[in-house]
Amino acid sequence: MMTDIPRPDTDKASGISEPDSRLDTSFDLSGYLEAKREILESHLRKIIGRLDSTRELARAMEYSLMAGGKRLRPILAMASAEAVGGDFRLALPAACAIEMIHTYSLIHDDLPAMDNDDLRRGIPTCHRAFSQATAVLAGDALLTHAFSLLGDPWEIFNPSPEKSVLLELVAKISQAAGPLGMVEGQMMDMKAPSITKAWESSYPDENICPDGERLSILKELHALKTGRMISVSVEAGAISAGCSAKQMELLSLYSVNIGLAFQVTDDILNVEGDPAVMGKAAGSDALNRKLTFPALMGLGASREFARDLIQGAISSLDTFKGRADPLKAIAQYILRRNR
Ligand code: IPE
Ligand code: IPE
Ligand code: MG
Ligand code: MG
Repeated sequence: MMTDIPRPDTDKASGISEPDSRLDTSFDLSGYLEAKREILESHLRKIIGRLDSTRELARAMEYSLMAGGKRLRPILAMASAEAVGGDFRLALPAACAIEMIHTYSLIHDDLPAMDNDDLRRGIPTCHRAFSQATAVLAGDALLTHAFSLLGDPWEIFNPSPEKSVLLELVAKISQAAGPLGMVEGQMMDMKAPSITKAWESSYPDENICPDGERLSILKELHALKTGRMISVSVEAGAISAGCSAKQMELLSLYSVNIGLAFQVTDDILNVEGDPAVMGKAAGSDALNRKLTFPALMGLGASREFARDLIQGAISSLDTFKGRADPLKAIAQYILRRNR
C-alpha cells in the first residue's frame, strides 16, 4: 500500500499493519456524541437567537446551521480539550465558530456553480429552500459571524479563553478555512475534472496519467478541502484548553490522519452509501468524473488506506491514556460511519 502516514517517533516499531485489536474499546461513543452535541447545539441556538428572526438572512442561516449534521468538528474540539486535561467548555467558542464556517462551506459547495446539489443534511439545500442569492449571503454571514464570535465571545460563552488565546484561534482557524486551506482545496476540486482531461490528452494511449501523480494531487486536494478544517478543530480545542507543545505535536499527527481518512470515507460513501441515511446524494462523484480515492485505487484499497490512516491516528494518542478515549473512539467512528 502506498501510504506515507505520519506517525509519532515513539511508535515507529508498531507499523501501519498493526492488528485491528488496537481499534477495540468499550468507550460509550454514542452517549458521548449525544451529550456533546446537545451542549454545542444549545450554544448555536443562543448565537442564532440573537439575530432578528424576521429577516430572511437570519432564517437562512438558522435553516442550514440547525439542520443537524454529525457535528464532528466541534465535538473533536471539545474532546481534544479534554484529552489535554482541560475544561471542554473552553473549546466552545472555537467549536461553534468552526461549525458555522463548515456550514457556510456546505451551503456554497451545494450551489449550482459548484456541486449543484439539492439535498443536504436530509433537507433541501439552502439555495433550493431560499434562493441562490440568499444562499450566497447566508454563507457569507455564517463565515463572518464566526469570527465576530471569536473576537467577542463573552456574552455567550462562560468560561471563555483569554484574549491572547482567542487571537491565536482566529489566526489558526482563518488559515485553515481560507486560501491556504479549505477554499484552495475547493478550488482544486473544481479544477480536477479539467486536470483529468489534460492528463488524458498527455497520455492518449493509456487514457490515464501515472497513478503516483494523481495520488499526490488527490492527497493535497483532500488535505486542503477537508483535512485542514478537521485538523484545526482538534488543534483549536487543545489551544483553547492551554495544551503543551508536545501534546500539540501528537494531536497534530492524529488530526492530519483522521482528516484525510474522513474524506476517503466520504468518497467511499459517495459510491456505496445510502442517500436516505446520509441525507445527501450518492453517485455524484462518478457522474462528475471527480478525482477520488475509489476512482483511483478501487474500493478495497481505499478502505485499507482509510484503516491505515485511522490506526496511525490512534497510535499517536498512546501517551494520553484514558483521557483520549473519546478521540480514539471518534477515529474508529470515522472509519465505520455510514453518514
Ligand atoms: C461533509 O462534511 C463535507 C465534507 C467535508 C466531506 P460532514 O460529513 O461532516 O457533514 P455534516 O456536518 O455531518 O453535515
Ligand atoms: C465538500 O466536499 C467539502 C467542503 C464543503 C469544503 P464534497 O463536495 O466532496 O462533499 P459533499 O459530498 O458535498 O458533502
Ligand atoms: Mg464539492
Ligand atoms: Mg459537494
